[in-house]
Amino acid sequence: KISDYLNRYKNHTFIKGLTTAEHIDSLQSFEIRDGDIFAVTYPKSGTIWIQQIVISICELDGSLNKNEVNPKQMPWLEHSYVHDDYTLRPSPRLFSSHLRPTLMPPGLKDKKAKIIYVMRNPKDTLVSYYHFSKKFVGLETPKSFDWCFEQYMKGNVSGSSWFDHIREWHLEKDQFNILFLTYEDMLLDLKAAVNKICSFLGKNLSEEAIEQVVEKCTFRTMKKDPKANYEFLPKERFSGSFMRKGQIGDWKNMFSAAQSERVDEMLQEKLGDLSLKFIWE
Ligand code: PPS
Repeated sequence: KISDYLNRYKNHTFIKGLTTAEHIDSLQSFEIRDGDIFAVTYPKSGTIWIQQIVISICELDGSLNKNEVNPKQMPWLEHSYVHDDYTLRPSPRLFSSHLRPTLMPPGLKDKKAKIIYVMRNPKDTLVSYYHFSKKFVGLETPKSFDWCFEQYMKGNVSGSSWFDHIREWHLEKDQFNILFLTYEDMLLDLKAAVNKICSFLGKNLSEEAIEQVVEKCTFRTMKKDPKANYEFLPKERFSGSFMRKGQIGDWKNMFSAAQSERVDEMLQEKLGDLSLKFIWE
């Protein structure tokens, strides 16, 4: 049974109140522009981080100068509650999304608009989700970590199954203009990631500007920056910190050996043929 806090539509799960089935369907005729830039993630994989990076790059190269909070500058395409008319926005438009490829606007397949996909290892993603759902009223409060683990393995969480999300985006990748990054690589070498993103987006920033982006996007800076840390969210909706820990390997503090093995087996079963590499610590 699906959680009371979620809706399932077209094999994907959504947090209730953020969107509607009609809105998801309407995305099939959402007109994509050549300059559109999307950051796509499974929840808790570094969405807010990639938002901050892309926004910082676009601000520094002068293509974005709105003094708005990050989710307004780079809104989640699937969220209908914001009621914003994106056709009125100048290019380049920036969007975030947790959607699977089949639910994305078909115009992305013209391969002119760009997608940056950030993947995080499934164990740390779950631990992040567990802590987040304890503090966010929009998600069911986990009864325990073990309970949350079982929901995650069943895909009964926001964003549906991590394994399906990763599999579908990798299988469909040739249909899109897409750059794959991992949270772990970004953490190990943020400057290299920023350089990759700039070159994918065709942005020619000076060395100094690159350093500025890196500085604005470290965990330490983002935690101190109320905008980057989403501190504008009402405390009664979310009482935690988006910048919680920002590490690789926190799963070791939560997972039992048996749980870790189950994820390894599922990885083999669902993604074994894709030869993806994961960094676990
Ligand atoms: S959401 O709700 O889906 O938008 O959450 P999302 O932003 O995808 O994921 C939140 C996790 O990303 C971590 N994060 C960072 N880690 C390292 N460096 C930077 N700059 C950074 N920014 C965000 C954040 O801390 C959450 O992970 P956990 O493990 O919970 O700390």
